[in-house]
Amino acid sequence: MTDITAPYGPLAYFLDLHPDLGDFEADVIKGLSLSQKALSPKYFYDAYGSKIFNHITELEEYYPTRTEKEIFQKNAKAITASIGSGAAIFEYGSGSSEKIDWLINGLADPTAYVALDISKTHLIESASSLTQTYKLPIAAICADFHTPIILPSGLLPQEERWLGFFPGSTLGNMTPEGAVALLKNASETLGSGAKFLLGVDLEKDPAILRAAYDDKKGVTAAFNLNLLRRMQRELDAELCLDDFVHQALFNDDLCRIEMHLRAIKPTSIMVKGRRFSFDEGETLHTENSHKYSVTRLKKLIEKTPWRLEEVWTDPKDWYAACLLSNR
Ligand code: SAH
Ligand code: AVI
Repeated sequence: MTDITAPYGPLAYFLDLHPDLGDFEADVIKGLSLSQKALSPKYFYDAYGSKIFNHITELEEYYPTRTEKEIFQKNAKAITASIGSGAAIFEYGSGSSEKIDWLINGLADPTAYVALDISKTHLIESASSLTQTYKLPIAAICADFHTPIILPSGLLPQEERWLGFFPGSTLGNMTPEGAVALLKNASETLGSGAKFLLGVDLEKDPAILRAAYDDKKGVTAAFNLNLLRRMQRELDAELCLDDFVHQALFNDDLCRIEMHLRAIKPTSIMVKGRRFSFDEGETLHTENSHKYSVTRLKKLIEKTPWRLEEVWTDPKDWYAACLLSNR
């Protein structure tokens, strides 16, 4: 089902592609039935989860947000010059659209900003509030970015040259195969002449990574545990929150941080009449956050229709901003 409303409040349009969130129940049952219990990280981002994520980005230990901002700010002139004039910005996983200022302000004649996110309420609130700051047309699309997206035509002025914007290293939350698939889809969506600005977290000392995903204040733990609360709220799941703890570990072989919810004693989750047992120490795997070297990133991009034009990093080489162009 596709719904488009134009205009939608202060937005040029709102396109609702009805991402598969109605399947939370089916996905929970499927995920809890696996031998390694697992659930997609897309379920973190209900209205409450999106707000907790904002707190994560402000944590001392969570370096990616501020490092990426530093790279964008320091290199704004070079990046915006390489993108060129007259681009319409299309942000994947826009969240609070907090990283858009420097781009809208720095680009020559940007023609529009379109925010895409799976979290509908948060998306509409964030995109609508931008209309008070910027004169250019702003639109929003509620969709799962893993699905192919066809942009509506004729609703924005001069929308023919697109700039995909995918900050925050959200690409790292996918498997490398999933990341290739997303970039292939984006190439189709954005069309010829498009560019794509991508932020990616780089490999570093695992101790720094573990701290970033297991902060002292317990904000990341609350973000992870919100999945269990969502099961209680939305599926009437019977479970004891105190039986689970947040766990962040570095998987050396796959070069990724993994987040899990670990049972600290034998317990169970009862959903829709089905009981799923956990042994002591057994986990529900909730997220992967892959960390790349620039070399592995280059190899990944070679598998997509995009060509890597330029890479900007911070002085510690902790994070990379990459500009791609569509072949
Ligand atoms: N771009 C922001 C937010 C990153 S958080 C930043 O850099 O800080 C990741 C964002 O991706 C969240 O807003 C979340 O709702 C969105 N997201 C996660 N999975 C998604 C999916 N499958 N499709 C669309 N958006 C998704
Ligand atoms: C959105 N994404 C890039 C974050 C990350 O760093 O993988 C999500 C997150 N999970 C725990 N902390 C932050």
